[in-house]
Amino acid sequence: MSTDSGTVDDTALPQSWAPLSTPPSIGRILVVDDVGGNVSLITALLCRDGYLVSSATNGHDALKAVARDHPDLVLMDVRMPGLDGFDACEALKTNPATRLIPVVLMTAQQDTEDRIRGIEAGADDFITKPFNAHELRARIRSLVRIKRYTDELDTAESVIVSLALTIEARDRSTEGHCQRLAAYASALGRALELDGDDIAALHRGGFLHDIGKVGIPDAILLKPARLTPDEYETMKRHAIIGERLCGELRSLRRVKPIVRHHHERLDGSGYPDRLKGDAIPLFAQIMGIVDVFDALTTARPYKPALTAARAYEELQIEVRRGWRRADLVEQFERLGRENRLPRVGSRDAWSD
Ligand SMILES: [Fe+2]
Repeated sequence: MSTDSGTVDDTALPQSWAPLSTPPSIGRILVVDDVGGNVSLITALLCRDGYLVSSATNGHDALKAVARDHPDLVLMDVRMPGLDGFDACEALKTNPATRLIPVVLMTAQQDTEDRIRGIEAGADDFITKPFNAHELRARIRSLVRIKRYTDELDTAESVIVSLALTIEARDRSTEGHCQRLAAYASALGRALELDGDDIAALHRGGFLHDIGKVGIPDAILLKPARLTPDEYETMKRHAIIGERLCGELRSLRRVKPIVRHHHERLDGSGYPDRLKGDAIPLFAQIMGIVDVFDALTTARPYKPALTAARAYEELQIEVRRGWRRADLVEQFERLGRENRLPRVGSRDAWSD
């Protein structure tokens, strides 16, 4: 929208958009120290460089400030009353929501013991007191730059997840499918005692496994009847399209094999690569099982929902055909029969 001066009328823009005339902040820093003089000194130094600086005087307040201000870096003294810098650092680094925020601990010179404790608490860097202003600024600049790259990757990933949810929204009959697959696959991963990173990959894979359906025409994706052989061939392309969409994002490295191979079968009759046996990545095998289970227990325009018990029977038939690993199907069935599968969304078979 144009105004008299020929510039953009920013009243038409969402309030959170900064006007173009305001240079963006180069980063938000949280300074934590119980000595007021130190906080003032560091704040003055960093403000001069263009950072937005907030402060706290102990670990507890620091954690609250992080939750409130979402800083790009925390610069924290180690010796403070109440929750000290080590414990506050550990709390930030064990919380998935804050673990990527760089933490720089301020320690006394030559205090090796403090450094070891800091490393154990997950600190990203140290600065010794009394500090050298040039060194402090250089370290902060470099860590904030890395944090910004991580944020950009995060944003790229969230775009892809949004895209996956958009596909689900196109097809009302699959509502909640992604959430359920994420929940079932990570529950099965936990039952198999996979580690935390593997379970996170399975959770993401649940959301993203069918992302390639963005490239499938509505006439096929939304067809309220079984697909013709030609249409089925087109539908099968979603595995390859999906893998390409994940691109080279590092954060999706472990999810890509799920996206490409979740329709493979152990006997080589699946797609897109007709992989056999152990050549099919474990995560993709897990996703294949939970995908079939959810499809069977959800009503579609052309078929009613099966009960969970009937769906387990179908999975056992697929084991006997040589399509699925018996141990994985058994473990999944055990989870279901023991009521250990998370209940997500409106799966039709929950009543049984
Ligand atoms: Fe799929």
